[in-house]
Amino acid sequence: MEIKECIEGRRSIRKFNGAPISREDIEEIIKAGQCAPSWKNSQTARYYVALSPEAIERVNACLPDFNAERTQGVGAYIVTTVSKGQSGCNSDGEYFSHLGNGYECFDNGLAVENIALYAHSLGYSTLIMGLFDEGALRSYLGVPSGEDIVVAIAIGKTDKKPRMPERKPLDEVLKIF
Ligand SMILES: Cc1cc2nc3c(=O)[nH]c(=O)nc-3n(C[C@H](O)[C@H](O)[C@H](O)COP(=O)(O)O)c2cc1C
Repeated sequence: MEIKECIEGRRSIRKFNGAPISREDIEEIIKAGQCAPSWKNSQTARYYVALSPEAIERVNACLPDFNAERTQGVGAYIVTTVSKGQSGCNSDGEYFSHLGNGYECFDNGLAVENIALYAHSLGYSTLIMGLFDEGALRSYLGVPSGEDIVVAIAIGKTDKKPRMPERKPLDEVLKIF
């Protein structure tokens, strides 16, 4: 798949068809996430994957009803976290950029987009979710206090083919000097 076709064709999917995803495909998709650039190559993204039916059910139970319903029939959930105190930090672990700790989530987003795009190229669909019961998810997955949970990504297959939600006109978002 051409890169532009992949970028334009990826959609957030809110109806999955129950098809499974293999451990091998999950590992390849996470490796694509690891290819993303990061602050000083700090690679602070961590990945927790619910793949068994029991784990999928437990993560689904951590979602608000609307996201839980939208992600019935997924093959897996990928929860990304950031290992804090490295991205955007000096050698003493102090955040020193103008964005404070903003580059932590920035780096995580780059990895997540790689995941979504590579998954799409393999024929999988994704839904990135920022809303979940953080405490319940942290407790179930055993996420340590040095990590912040960033997003939960539903991944699976779909029979739907939604159109791209409208994007803003270029002149509203772009200034060229
Ligand atoms: C950080 C982030 C959080 C999101 N959270 C949710 C969510 O909780 N539920 C949902 O249905 N979609 C969620 N989305 C998906 C967006 O609504 C979606 O990306 C946007 O409408 C554009 O559609 P597209 O992804 O098909 O291009 C989220 C997307 C991002 C990047």
